[in-house]
Order: sequence, then structure tokens, then C-alpha cells
Amino acid sequence: MPQPTLDPLTARWRPEFPGLERSVYMNTCSLGQLSRRSMDGMQRFQEQWLSYGASAWYELWLGEMTDARARFARLVNAQPHEIAILPSVGVALSVIGSSLDFSARPEVVVTEMDFPTIPYQWMARREEGAQLRLLPSPDRVQVPLESFAQAIGPRTALVATTHVFFTSGWVQDIAAISALAHTAGALCLVDGYQAAGQILVDVKAADVDVYISGGLKWLLGGPGIVFMYVREELIPQLHPTTTGWFAAKDMFKFNPERFEMAEDARRFEPGTPAVAAVYAANSGLSIIEEIGVAAIRARTAELDADLIRRLAAAGLQPRLPAQMARHAGIVMLPVENPSAAVKALKERGIIIDYRPGALRLSPYFYNTETENQLLVNAIVEVLNG
Ligand SMILES: Cc1ncc(COP(=O)(O)O)c(C=O)c1O
Repeated sequence: MPQPTLDPLTARWRPEFPGLERSVYMNTCSLGQLSRRSMDGMQRFQEQWLSYGASAWYELWLGEMTDARARFARLVNAQPHEIAILPSVGVALSVIGSSLDFSARPEVVVTEMDFPTIPYQWMARREEGAQLRLLPSPDRVQVPLESFAQAIGPRTALVATTHVFFTSGWVQDIAAISALAHTAGALCLVDGYQAAGQILVDVKAADVDVYISGGLKWLLGGPGIVFMYVREELIPQLHPTTTGWFAAKDMFKFNPERFEMAEDARRFEPGTPAVAAVYAANSGLSIIEEIGVAAIRARTAELDADLIRRLAAAGLQPRLPAQMARHAGIVMLPVENPSAAVKALKERGIIIDYRPGALRLSPYFYNTETENQLLVNAIVEVLNG
């Protein structure tokens, strides 16, 4: 297959990610590349820590958090006061879970394609009355909308599912799922960890209640930080019991006798965040914002299509949806012993990942068609022993 000239967007941004010189990196769906901007951000944080000490909190770090919340809000079409900063999806779910009452409506609808931390959360709340409805996937790619329609009803407290599935790249119709939840009087929470950054997210158009995404992957911000959108009207109705002083309306009054929760989404923040992660993530978000998600989506889709063509030309058959318009970023290639293949590829300087039964390949806008071919050649070599 001919090698096209380097795409201008890719050419412009590759130097920002020095790790790309060290390997063929096709694993953004596990961990996005570290940018020079995030390195500078974390360096700045260290210098502030050194020269300001604790006053960095008031003079700089709270401001950086405000900035990061606003940037994520712009990305998903929310308002800054609807965004909370938390350390992981698991913690964000715990906070939301702790504010739900399962006595009248015990069921939480989840799918088997969701990241396991989602079903685990409601299994762990069995004693509080939560009952899991786990929807199956007929093809390991998607979950039909009809399954949601059949499962959601008057016993449903919450539909907690995913925007882009982590083992198929399938983009769920979150607006349709949310509409089903709302019609039944239930809430809709979406895990957008594999979506925000690589595809357009509009929480208002989708009319979801809670939307969570984080730095780790397509937002290029590294581990230790997630952003959680909670719909403005819902905020005062939720009273999380997993909480702390950051959730207090007047947190700097340090009043142990009275706990009034913040009126904005800060009420979902239990405590002191990992500030280095805030700096890394805010820098990553600024890159996404500068390029623009539409351009990122177009270039990533182009690379996905190119990779799929090259795999097919080599006689390999990725597991893909019939409806490719609903596919984003993650190409699964079923193989017999994926962990051994990932190891062998790493020895050849190619970084991918695997999930049970399949290799997981995820080019991003900073990858090239040449890297796609190197990846395919190496996979063929490794699979042929
Ligand atoms: C869809 C999805 N949700 C959540 C996570 C991670 O959750 P947590 O932040 O709790 O580690 C991942 C990957 O790490 C993921 O792919």
C-alpha cells in the first residue's frame, strides 16, 4: 500500500509528544501520550511548590482547578459549576452511588460491555438495596437499544453505561439511552472515559444527568484525575455520603458543627486533589481545545480506516461493528494468545494492549499511516511465530 505524505495535523503535533520517537505507540485507549505541555505544567507545579509552599494553594492551585473545570466544561458543552474534579471513575461512581436511595427504585441498568468498575459499584451496594440489571451484548461490539428499552422501568433508579465501549470502540447513542431513562423516571450516568477528546461530546444535547471522563486516555492528561459533569438542576437533589471538606459550601470556615454542602458540583469533591495531575490534565485539555475535537475525530477516523484496510490486506480480520459510523478509536483484533503477542510486539518497539481474546489497537491523531503498516507487519510476523 502506498505511503501517503504526512497529514498536516499529525506533522504539526507529533513533535509535541517526544515519546513517539521511542516506540510505535498505538495504545492511547490505555494511556495517552505525554506532551511537552503537560511536562511543562507539572514542572511549573513543582516550582510553585518550592517557592510558594502552602500559599500556592490559595494563590495558584485553586485557580488551576477552576481553569481545568472550565476547560472540561467547554469541551462537553457544560457550565463550569457543573464540573467536579475527582481522582478516578471508581471514586466518582462511589460519590454518586452514595447519594442514591434504592428503597423505592432498586435497579441499576448496566451492560456487560461497560468497564467493570461500573457493575462493581452497584454489586458492592447490594446491602444498601441496589440490584444490578446487566444487559448482554450479542456480538461483543454493542448492546441493542431495545435491550435498554426492555430493562428500564419503574424499578430503575439509574442507567449507568458507557459512551464508547472500551473493548469495541462502539459509540452508544447516549441521547436515546438517556431519553429511555428519563421517560421511566430514572437517572442516566455515562462513563465517557473512551469518548471525550476523540469524539464530540455535548452533555446538554444528549441530556444526560452525569458524565464522567478523565485525563488518562484521549484527553492526554495522565492518571489521577477525572472530571464529572452533574446536570445543574440535579446538583441540589443529591446529597452524597461519600464526602469531605471540599464539598462544604464555605470550606475555609472549617466549621465542624455545621455541614452545608456547596451549591455547585464541588459538593461531589471529597477532598484535596492530586495537584500535579490537575496541571498535567489541564495542559492536555488545552491541546485538545487548540486542535479541536472535530479535527481530531476526522484524523483519527482516517487512521482507523487506514489501519483496518491494512489489516484486511494482510488477511487479518478485526472485530468491527456493521455500522462503522458508530465506531471510534479502538480496533479489536481477535487472536489466540493476545498477552504473548503484546509482549512480542513490545520487544519490536510496538506498544499496544490486549483484552481477553483480542489485541486492542488505538491510533490517535499523532500517529501515522507508516506506523499503521509497521504495526500490521509486526503483528503478522508475531502471529506467524
Ligand atoms: C471506559 C473506562 N472507564 C473507566 C476506566 C478507569 O476507571 P478508574 O478511573 O476508576 O480507574 C477505564 C480505563 O482505565 C475505561 O476504559
